[in-house]
Amino acid sequence: MKPSHKLKQKREVTSFVRRAGRITSGQKNAWQYYWELYGIQNTKEIIETTNIFNNSNRKLIIEIGFGNGEILIDSALRNPDDNFIGIEVYESGIGQCLIQLSEKKLSNVRLINEDAKHILNHSFKDQAIDQINIFFPDPWPKKKHHKRRLINQEFILLIGKKLKKNGCINIATDWDDYAEQIIDVFNKSNLFKKTNNLRLNLETKFEKRGLKLGHKIQKFTFQLL
Ligand SMILES: C[S@@+](CC[C@H](N)C(=O)[O-])C[C@H]1O[C@@H](n2cnc3c(N)ncnc32)[C@H](O)[C@@H]1O
Repeated sequence: MKPSHKLKQKREVTSFVRRAGRITSGQKNAWQYYWELYGIQNTKEIIETTNIFNNSNRKLIIEIGFGNGEILIDSALRNPDDNFIGIEVYESGIGQCLIQLSEKKLSNVRLINEDAKHILNHSFKDQAIDQINIFFPDPWPKKKHHKRRLINQEFILLIGKKLKKNGCINIATDWDDYAEQIIDVFNKSNLFKKTNNLRLNLETKFEKRGLKLGHKIQKFTFQLL
C-alpha cells in the first residue's frame, strides 16, 4: 500500500461536546442585548482586569463550566468586592446567566464563551488568578472517555502556573472514581496542599441531579504552595 501523503491533523481531545441544545427566546434575547456588556470577546490578547472591571485590585475568581451560572451569580452577589470571570461553552447556559446578570445589575462578573483550557493557556498571565472554581465537571464515566476529563495531570500543571501563590481551587463532584482521580493527580503534583473546603449554601442543577441518583457529593479545596 502506498503511504498517504496527506498529513492527518490530530484532533484535540476536549472536556466537552458542543451541544446545540434548545435555547429559549429569553436566552436568545439575553445574548443579543447583554453579551456585548458582559462577554469578553477579545481573548486573542492577554486579559487585563484593568480593562474590564472598574476596580482591578480586587481578588480575581474564575469559574470553569458554570452551567446556568447559579453559583457564579450567587458568589458575585455575596462578594461584591471580588471580580469574577465565568468560562462556559454551553450557549443556553450562558444565555440564562446573562438574564440573571442583567436582572441583578452585577458589575463584577464577565463571561467567556470558549474552552477554559485554551483560555487559561493563552489569555491569562501566570500568577494572575486568586481562585478557580469547578463545580461538577463533566464526569465522562466510561473508561474510554476518561481522557476527556478536565481535571488531569496536565490541567493541574496549567492551574499551578496561573494561580497566585497560596491561591486555591475548589472542586465538587458526585462521581466517586473522578474524586479518586482528582485526589490522585493533586497528590502526585506536589504543587498543592488539601485544605478545608469552601462552604456553599447553594445546590447546583448537577448537584441536585447527583443527589437524586443517590451519588455521594465530594467537595475539595487545594491550595497552591
Ligand atoms: C456537568 S455541567 C456542570 C454545570 C454547573 N457547574 C453545575 O454544577 O450545574 C459541566 C459544564 O462544564 C462545561 N465545560 C466542560 N468543559 C469545559 C471547558 N473546557 N471549558 C468551558 N466549559 C466547559 C460544560 O459545557 C457544562 O456546562
